[in-house]
Amino acid sequence: QRVRLIGAPCDAGAARAGARLGPDALRIAGLADALAAQGVAVQDGGNLRGPASAVHRQPRPDRSGLHHLDACVRWCGLVHEAVAQALAGGSLPLLLGGDHHLAMGSIPAVAQHCARQGKTLRVVWLDAHADCNDARSSPSGNIHGMPVSVLLGHGPQALQALARPPLPATALRQVGLRSVDAAEKARIARFGIEAYDMRAIDELGMPEVMRRVLRDVHAPDVHLHLSFDVDFLDPELAPGTGTTARGGPTYREAQLCMEMLADTGCLGSMDLVELNPVLDVRNQTAELVLDLLQSLFGKSTLVRAAS
Ligand code: ARG
Ligand code: MN
Ligand code: MN
Ligand code: MN
Repeated sequence: QRVRLIGAPCDAGAARAGARLGPDALRIAGLADALAAQGVAVQDGGNLRGPASAVHRQPRPDRSGLHHLDACVRWCGLVHEAVAQALAGGSLPLLLGGDHHLAMGSIPAVAQHCARQGKTLRVVWLDAHADCNDARSSPSGNIHGMPVSVLLGHGPQALQALARPPLPATALRQVGLRSVDAAEKARIARFGIEAYDMRAIDELGMPEVMRRVLRDVHAPDVHLHLSFDVDFLDPELAPGTGTTARGGPTYREAQLCMEMLADTGCLGSMDLVELNPVLDVRNQTAELVLDLLQSLFGKSTLVRAAS
């Protein structure tokens, strides 16, 4: 398996600056070696060069109601192109964010690739947040809180051109939710997004949640895209991210989640976003993420019987 690393050092969509350093923090933690140890052929495409990020968020959103709209749109264009190129070359694109608005660059590129190849796309979105605000409902104006609306064809007008054609809601599954704004809550129900909050994980357990999430993710014609927001993880384990929410999955739950994703054999592309090294403690969040990535790329403690 060939993986192409695509660094997108951008935090224009985030609540605070620092996620632009995410790609290098992952490299310094040993990302390439960690993947190579799982038999992956890693190709590091380096960092994309996009518009410089402001040091501080503006005190108010741009006139559109969206912070740093132009920068976000340009970054998404660069990411789209790089992801499309990796897929066309037969590699698995691993987008290193950067903040989560970049999923509006990667996922549409993946969707277009799947359409060309006659593959069915399934997107698993691991996140404490639903990221389905629009300019009006957003409490913050931060675009990283909006990509899910846009991907489903409902977001702010200014962003909709990024996500054509929109994904059907049935292609998306969200896991780990625990910080959802009132308008998002209504929208999840209205859009019909299959979402598993922490209560579902507590009641059903991670294994059953993931069995449900992955029930139709096994055939060779399924392309699985994982969009992994680091704030999915409990902040006691993973403090290095800008919008933490307590009460997240434990280390073991997160590992099992990765193992079950790996077992599908369908992983075709991934976003790794919202790592903010400025907020981290001795790069521990990056190191934790590498543990999880190893499981995602097939690490197991024992030889396992094929199931
Ligand atoms: N719901 C909040 C907002 O819209 C937080 C979003 C956090 N998103 C993220 N990708 N970390 O501002
Ligand atoms: Mn395209
Ligand atoms: Mn989040
Ligand atoms: Mn997110």
